[in-house]
Amino acid sequence: MGVIVRLLLLFVAFVGIRTGLCYTDPHDTAALLSLMSEWQNTPPNWGQSNDPCGVPWEGIVCNNKSRVIMLKLSTMGIKGTLNGDIGQLAQLQSLDLSYNNELGGSLTSNIGSLAQLTTLILSGCGFTGNIPQELGNLPLISFVALNSNKFSGRIPPSIGKLSNVYWLDIADNQISGPLPISNSKSPGLDLLLNAKHFHFNKNQLSGTIPEKLFSSPMQLIHILFDANNFVGEIPTSVGLVQSLEVLRMDRNFLNGVVPSSISNLTSLNELNLANNKLSGPMPDLEGMNNLNYVDLSNNTFDAAEAPFWFSTIESLAVLMVESGGIYGDIPQTLFSITGLEQVLLNDNAFNGSLNMGNSISSNLQIVNFQNNSISEVTLSDSYNETLILVDNPVCKAQLANTVYCQLQQRKPTPYSTSLTKCSSKACPLGQSISPQSCDCAYPYEGVLIFRAPFFRDVTNSSLFQQLEMSLWTKLKLTPGSIYLANPFFNSDNYLQVQVKLFPSNGIYFNRAEILKIGGDLSNQLFKPPAVFGPYYFIASPYPFPDGNAKGSSMSKGAIVGITIGCVVLIIGLLVVGIYAFKQKKKAERAILLSKPFASWGSGGKDAGGAPQLKGSRWFSFEELRKSTNNFSEANEIGSGGYGTVYRGLLPNGQNVAIKRAQQGSMQGGLEFKTDIKLLSRVHARINARREAGAFEGRQ
Ligand SMILES: *[C@@H]1O[C@H](CO)[C@@H](O)[C@H](O)[C@H]1NC(C)=O
Ligand SMILES: *[C@@H]1O[C@H](CO)[C@@H](O)[C@H](O)[C@H]1NC(C)=O
Repeated sequence: MGVIVRLLLLFVAFVGIRTGLCYTDPHDTAALLSLMSEWQNTPPNWGQSNDPCGVPWEGIVCNNKSRVIMLKLSTMGIKGTLNGDIGQLAQLQSLDLSYNNELGGSLTSNIGSLAQLTTLILSGCGFTGNIPQELGNLPLISFVALNSNKFSGRIPPSIGKLSNVYWLDIADNQISGPLPISNSKSPGLDLLLNAKHFHFNKNQLSGTIPEKLFSSPMQLIHILFDANNFVGEIPTSVGLVQSLEVLRMDRNFLNGVVPSSISNLTSLNELNLANNKLSGPMPDLEGMNNLNYVDLSNNTFDAAEAPFWFSTIESLAVLMVESGGIYGDIPQTLFSITGLEQVLLNDNAFNGSLNMGNSISSNLQIVNFQNNSISEVTLSDSYNETLILVDNPVCKAQLANTVYCQLQQRKPTPYSTSLTKCSSKACPLGQSISPQSCDCAYPYEGVLIFRAPFFRDVTNSSLFQQLEMSLWTKLKLTPGSIYLANPFFNSDNYLQVQVKLFPSNGIYFNRAEILKIGGDLSNQLFKPPAVFGPYYFIASPYPFPDGNAKGSSMSKGAIVGITIGCVVLIIGLLVVGIYAFKQKKKAERAILLSKPFASWGSGGKDAGGAPQLKGSRWFSFEELRKSTNNFSEANEIGSGGYGTVYRGLLPNGQNVAIKRAQQGSMQGGLEFKTDIKLLSRVHARINARREAGAFEGRQ
């Protein structure tokens, strides 16, 4: 945005203020107009007034001083870039541009000027380039969600200055380099003692996870470091973060021995260290009695018998140790853990017998022992769910040709919200059937992604129905107006669920409703049931009925229009100004002319010596010319030292004598003055006598 255009916008805003048309702070108005000039699809009421706080532009919240404090534009379909003028919104506390996937470009360093900012949400946009280090200049910020963009470069160490941050989500970008740690010269992530969420997953972060990163005063509940390029050992210090509930370090290149301090994390619900190069003994998780989900697959642990904790952690729902080098017998008590859902112990070396016992968990669905050395199996009548024994000796003998020895076993049907009461109804393109009313409507759609659920069962209706209920309750929708479908664990091992939310009235949500729902999801105001763990949401664009035809409120054209208008206005004002100036000069000249003795002395210097003539009159040359019949010879009545005297007849019938200086003569100035002085004395005496007479007459 050119400086000139910016000045013009500021000018327009000031004119608005001055003319009493608007109350919004002119800097804020100018900044918004400037942002708008680079955005398509801003809400239709943007730019309809030049007063963003007056009848508020949608997505804008102002304080009572008419300063913009919130700018929330989740899922508006905004396209374009975020320019540096955002930095002018000096009182801005909350900025949420989430789920505008065509809003991108680099993130302006002016974001660091927003000293009042507490919330910055850019989830699911298309931002590229570095995270600006100026982000570290925002001491009040507590919620930072930059996830699911295309940010690259390193984590700026200045982030370590955000001492109030509790949510730090930079996941799902292309951020590389090491985790910055504080030293005498520079801050680092180890200083973020109020942070509860380190969501750094799905990036290209590298180097070791520094020992100094964690300390006991930390409040972290979620550490998501999965799917990066970390190397080296898991730091012992992680065991100091007693508040931890989720620890995901899977899919890195971590090696060495898992520190025993990890067993101090007794609040942990999920531990996922899969797909690294960890070695030494398998970690001892004895006593971690809140663990629901454990995945230690695909490491290089020492070959050993099944650890004791397999059957002692009563909270266990998911046990995954693929390729764990485990041999010997399979502990029977494992299968009687009440909440157990899935046991994935394929690609190990179990070589004893399998007897799942008779008190098998009613939640158990999948038991996978593919590719082990099991030679004897005692089948249980109380278990009719999936049991995979392919590639075990037992499939060549005892169980040959049974269902247990075939890979294609019954696939459980993932949950989806029931539409059976709606019969099979077809909806127009873009609409879907609301499970609440069975009417067609345009739902607000997207995917909920749970990064560390405490379960793995995608068929569990009661869990997903709890999720539905929490959605309609917390998002204030009509009960039943949620459709969930196709839950599955994606390639990142996140639970992904398709979500459709339906409007309470009519077939559309209005913008205010979308802004509210999008904001509640991006800002984590919506909390799913605890077993779903940390989540994020990515919305699909919403097909607003006012569309983008009218919706692209302030196009480049409009801005150009305003700008041209301003230029024309300014030129107009200049022209008027110059005209007024000229008129003033003209008037001054006229006044000067009407004071014949103003320049009595040369250059008007001794004007003070000019005779004061009472009742004298000023005549223009034209008048004199007329009254003397164009200074005709017939009117000549004599000639003096420096000019000719004419007889003149004034329009009122008075006869006068007019002395005309010789044309072109520079002489006679002195004589002229002498004449005037003489005449003025005569005139004064006549006047004095007249006044005295008048006085006498009245007596
Ligand atoms: C576990 O925590 C206790 C104190 O809470 C501490 O004394 C002990 O050293 C820790 N264990 C490990 C292995 O870090
Ligand atoms: C373990 O590695 C295999 C082969 O790369 C892969 O197919 C499997 O999904 C991995 N297991 C887990 C739990 O990630």
